[in-house]
Amino acid sequence: MFNINKKVTIKDIANTAGVSTATVSKILNKKDKYISDKTRSKVLKIATDNNYVANKIAASMVTNKTYSIGLIISDITNEFFTKLSRGVEDFANKKGYNVILCNTDNNIEKAYDYLIMLQEKMVDGIIIASAYDIKNGLHRHNYINIPIVAIDKDIPSLKLKKSVGINNLDGGYKATKYLISKGLNKILHLTGDFNYEPTKDRVKGYIKALEENNINFYEDFIAYGKFTIEWGYNGIIDIIESGTVFDSVFCGNDLIAVGVIKALKEKNIKVPEDISVIGFDDIFLSSLITPTLTTVSQPMYKIGYEGARVLLNIIEDGINIKKSIELNTKIIVRNSTN
Ligand code: RIB
Repeated sequence: MFNINKKVTIKDIANTAGVSTATVSKILNKKDKYISDKTRSKVLKIATDNNYVANKIAASMVTNKTYSIGLIISDITNEFFTKLSRGVEDFANKKGYNVILCNTDNNIEKAYDYLIMLQEKMVDGIIIASAYDIKNGLHRHNYINIPIVAIDKDIPSLKLKKSVGINNLDGGYKATKYLISKGLNKILHLTGDFNYEPTKDRVKGYIKALEENNINFYEDFIAYGKFTIEWGYNGIIDIIESGTVFDSVFCGNDLIAVGVIKALKEKNIKVPEDISVIGFDDIFLSSLITPTLTTVSQPMYKIGYEGARVLLNIIEDGINIKKSIELNTKIIVRNSTN
């Protein structure tokens, strides 16, 4: 037994086992194909009995790698980001990497601070799921010199030119067209932050579907706010109280739709008999609320998983794609639309 106040080193283990430090290092790093079972067991027993903890920082000084990546997300309370994160983590873990999770609460300054912090922590790369195109932080981004991949949507001001997400314009188009196909033509669009890249594209899809079907587009039929239940609730109450006449609502995400449905119920407006509601994402809650929510489903887990694959391809093999990978969306029909 070694002195408990002293950190056990590879050298200590080697001396006790009567083998070289190189042998101990190979065994502890699982690069021990050519080492006998007897030596392996002996070394591992000494390491375990003496609570050996690897000094990863020292190791990373030598290898220039920490086997960790950073993941920056906008809103940890939104299941969309939970699923993305699971996808990132699963792929990263499979490749032997850990993930440091950073939540920005939709604050772009926090996102830039995290970019700097993660680089200082010497992560091997960063995945960013915080699709704001705010140019003010750009000068600070110039100090980042490790690989970055955007998921959810590319971030034009970061000039990454590699992302994994969906075609948001097509998603907005599909949602609106679905409502139109049900004979609805007074379609509100209640959505999140105007500066968020997916918002802009979903709005374009909404307008495209209206125009293609010769339905008048009114600016005040679009309300920008936040991607939250609270905003959905308050936003639709304001619209109802303003006297605006509408027959359906395309919500920028499912959380907004949950708030909208709650408000409509409180106002004794029946969903879908009086008003149809469609969401975006297909989070778990959508199949639990009453009525269950029709929505545009996006492959959240897969977006994270593929995003991690793109990043690790750069880190491990130097394969650096310069394109946006777009995964498919589909409408999940439930009971909030006719
Ligand atoms: O970040 C808010 C929303 O944008 C998410 O719910 C998802 O739809 C994303 O693209």
